Amino acid sequence: MEYSYTQAVIQYIRLFLNKSFSAVTNNLVHMIEIFLRLSILGLWICYNFSMNVIENLQKAKQLLEEADAIFITAGAGMGVDSGLPDFRGPEGFWHAYPKAKELGLQFEEMANSEWFESDPQLAWAFYGHRLHLYRDTLPHEGFKKLLELSNTKKYGAHIFTSNVDGQFQKTGFKEEQVMECHGSIHHMQCIDNCQGMLWSADDIFIEIEEGFKAKEPLPVCPFCGSMARPNILMFGDFGWEYARTNGQRERLSRWIERIEAEGVKLAIVEMGAGTAVPTVRNTSEEIANRFDVPLIRINPRESFGAEIELPMGAVEALSKII
Ligand SMILES: NC(=O)c1ccc[n+]([C@@H]2O[C@H](COP(=O)([O-])OP(=O)(O)OC[C@H]3O[C@@H](n4cnc5c(N)ncnc54)[C@H](O)[C@@H]3O)[C@@H](O)[C@H]2O)c1
Ligand SMILES: [Zn+2]
Repeated sequence: MEYSYTQAVIQYIRLFLNKSFSAVTNNLVHMIEIFLRLSILGLWICYNFSMNVIENLQKAKQLLEEADAIFITAGAGMGVDSGLPDFRGPEGFWHAYPKAKELGLQFEEMANSEWFESDPQLAWAFYGHRLHLYRDTLPHEGFKKLLELSNTKKYGAHIFTSNVDGQFQKTGFKEEQVMECHGSIHHMQCIDNCQGMLWSADDIFIEIEEGFKAKEPLPVCPFCGSMARPNILMFGDFGWEYARTNGQRERLSRWIERIEAEGVKLAIVEMGAGTAVPTVRNTSEEIANRFDVPLIRINPRESFGAEIELPMGAVEALSKII
């Protein structure tokens, strides 16, 4: 009786273990199968993605080669490969300007014309730092490749950018070829816009003291003595003098109308334009629709929404397509 009871227990444990073992084994086999299937799917997606990118690079190269005119559009990402910061998201902006983080200010709040009245030393620390940074930065190879290519085209190139850094002119593009929709840091105006006049920022040097404050005396308007500010379109900005940018806009419109009227083959290439302030993206799309040509969009993270998406940095893409 005793013996058969122990035997029965052992038998039961054996059966239980066998059952669990085979269940575990089955599960393991099943999991390996799922893992292998997912890996194959992943590899297939990666393969297709890279084939798509290679195909897009070839298409972009061909479009640029065959075009007789090039419309170049650019956002802050265009300067990243030259070492300039973009302001993508509050973290991107705060990384570039820790003082803004300390004050809890996002880019939209810091880039507000109101600071020139309420805290000019802070306003000038922010814009003075950017003025020196953009002045001292050399445009990367991609800019030069675009310039060389543009010079081979019968109708040349025109640029539309929200960048205020003047990097296209520094590369050698002519002033008449550039439209800076948010103005330029290299041009000054009066905070009261007393005469509607602009003057060069070439003589302005800003020293920044402890606590991210621009050292006084700060730049003033040569006409009325009020505070001076960069001719950049800021947030909540009703005092921006837009005559210079309007002149650029008219020149761009005339160029576009001419190539449209003459049926010129146009290629459009956009670089580093973000989605937060989508002026550049919208302009590229509008012109691509108007001319019924594919848009080449270069952007490592936000290349979506174009016919030819190139998800990589500007220098890498431009060195492959020009
Ligand atoms: N250099 C400048 O003049 C400058 C710099 C920062 C911000 N801004 C101003 O701030 C606003 C920012 O808007 P935005 O859309 O131009 O910039 P953003 O900072 O919102 O977006 C930058 C975009 O560039 C992409 N990018 C990042 N690295 C890149 C690289 N190596 N190559 C190509 N693309 C890259 C990002 O994925 C992003 O989509 C604009 O109004 C502009 O006037 C100007
Ligand atoms: Zn003035």
